[in-house]
Amino acid sequence: MSQHSNTDQPSPHFILDDSLIYVNHAAVSPWPVKTAETVKHFADENTRLGSRHYQRWLQTEEELRDRLAALIHAQSSDEIALLKNTSEGLSVIAYGLSWQAGDKIIISHEEFPSNFIVWDSLADQGVELVQVDISGDNPEQALIEQIDEHTRLLSISAVQYASGRRLDLVKLGRACREHNILFCVDAIQQIGALQFDVEAMQADFVVADGHKWMLGPEGLALFYCRRERIPQLQLKQFGWHMVEDVSRFDAMENWQPASSARRFECGSPNMLAIHALHSSIGLLLELGMEQIETRVLERVQHLIQRFSAMDDITILSPTQSHQHAGIFTFYKQQVDQQKLYDTLVASGVVCALRGGGIRFSPHFYTPFEQLDRLADRVRQYKGS
Ligand SMILES: Cc1ncc(COP(=O)(O)O)c(C=O)c1O
Repeated sequence: MSQHSNTDQPSPHFILDDSLIYVNHAAVSPWPVKTAETVKHFADENTRLGSRHYQRWLQTEEELRDRLAALIHAQSSDEIALLKNTSEGLSVIAYGLSWQAGDKIIISHEEFPSNFIVWDSLADQGVELVQVDISGDNPEQALIEQIDEHTRLLSISAVQYASGRRLDLVKLGRACREHNILFCVDAIQQIGALQFDVEAMQADFVVADGHKWMLGPEGLALFYCRRERIPQLQLKQFGWHMVEDVSRFDAMENWQPASSARRFECGSPNMLAIHALHSSIGLLLELGMEQIETRVLERVQHLIQRFSAMDDITILSPTQSHQHAGIFTFYKQQVDQQKLYDTLVASGVVCALRGGGIRFSPHFYTPFEQLDRLADRVRQYKGS
């Protein structure tokens, strides 16, 4: 990476408006310059040449699978499908598995709705959903203790969207293997911010939309399915794109689903988003996820330091660096959080109101000087 982590030069990869302090990567990220150029170029190409170079587009699609596989350390890009979003990926899993009355699924009590609703929807099949309180000192143990002989699956966010709590996925994956249950990770709040190793954590399924820390557009998600699990998910969506040999339009009577995770993609791919995400992931890999992780953690640690020094601030996120990723959530005592939020937004801060507080989520390139300005603005706010 061109910049040392302790310097504060503006990143050449982003040209955010000077009027903004953008700390909302846990919601929707701005695009890197390179990604925007790719999209403009793609629009231009479509205008002038249509799909004349479709073969090249297909190569970009394949390269994106390779890049995503590299980003999460998957054994093969055959384990990657490109789906619409995290919710779709979770639905493919929930409705691909077959359930029996009395089966149990474990999640936490802090999950984003995507990782609650889909499992809750299985109640009419007699599946029990257990929501575990993970706010204590040992959240992993709290989850593991709930596993019993009826448990079939543990589904967890790598990093919780509101509190920013990060879990030890290696420990959870090991416990799932020991108890012979499936392990599903909603990784949208980790991949692109911190390193992610699907082999080390032995996950069966991983889903993550590209528009947060991966710096891509909305509506294109990474879906990882461990090779052995691919045949175990029943198919619920069908179309020309899911078959082994996509080119054989005239010989469909004996169609077979692709042996790879592409069988979960039923029709035409979202080529525009594929080109954009291809660029964004290229940038992340070029800069290096180890460096990016260091810089994200440094920024959140900086916020923790600055906000801990204020008497009237309650920090809602874990403060130890191994327990958080890029999310820092707090509230200011004795003021209306909504009004504080509105005031920040009016002054150009792009952030979110989550989990009873205000959520800041800087990425690797966010200048420290902007984080200091944020802290000053919150300190000076006296309410109205
Ligand atoms: C943990 C988590 N999962 C999922 C989502 C979004 O899901 P989708 O990609 O289906 O829009 C979010 C968005 O905030 C999230 O924080």
